[in-house]
Amino acid sequence: MVELGIGVKDLNFSWLSGENVIKSCSLEVPKGEFWMLLGTNGSGKSTLLRLIAGLLTPESGEIQLSHPVGFVFQNPDHQLVMPTVGADVAFGLVEEKLPPAAVRTRVQEALEAVNLLSLQKRPIYALSGGQKQRVAIAGALARRCEVLLLDEPTALLDPDSQLELVASVRRLVKNRGITALWVTHRLDELNYCDGALLLEKGCLLDHGEPQRLKRRLMELHDKTPET
Ligand SMILES: Nc1ncnc2c1ncn2[C@@H]1O[C@H](COP(=O)(O)OP(=O)(O)O)[C@@H](O)[C@H]1O
Ligand SMILES: [Mg+2]
Repeated sequence: MVELGIGVKDLNFSWLSGENVIKSCSLEVPKGEFWMLLGTNGSGKSTLLRLIAGLLTPESGEIQLSHPVGFVFQNPDHQLVMPTVGADVAFGLVEEKLPPAAVRTRVQEALEAVNLLSLQKRPIYALSGGQKQRVAIAGALARRCEVLLLDEPTALLDPDSQLELVASVRRLVKNRGITALWVTHRLDELNYCDGALLLEKGCLLDHGEPQRLKRRLMELHDKTPET
């Protein structure tokens, strides 16, 4: 049996407006692997990711995952709350009530892992979009997250920073044994993952080999007016 980082069984969820947006979804991500969740706009990707993170409560179904869990939002400006890089990463550690020296070590290690140690004192507003996303990821690493969930973290990035970010998350996953689930609809990102899941209208249609799913998503894109 493969050890699971994330396991979801028969998950159902509807918004108050009534329509069932997540329909009997089951998925598995093996521990230490980097998987992507694909689907066209409105297919339910963000809703499913929030359910897995525990930010929403399902109507029925089971969720099993290794803790702690880190979450990276599409827009880092909704996530970074402190004035500087170092302070923001340290803020995520407040609940753990660590001694100051341990906080400093954790923050430095996490910033080093995302290649931002030299920017520790830099104000958040002076960072690029890609750097902000790396600060958000450092926050999760400082908390020693075992599972990292990322909701279209490259949506606001230019193509170079986009591919840099996906490559650096892949390295972190492989070096640290983290399990990551990354939401995207950008097909070039699929070259970096170990496996992919395809969501359409709230149903998981397919899962497995990234290149095969890439071709399937391209067919779906061809049938929908927007991307
Ligand atoms: N907060 C909300 N309240 C009500 N409906 C929502 C809310 N968020 C998303 N939805 C609806 O749920 C469906 C899935 O949305 P979402 O999970 O954001 O899809 P995706 O991330 O794949 O674009 C859509 O029909 C969307 O309109
Ligand atoms: Mg979304």
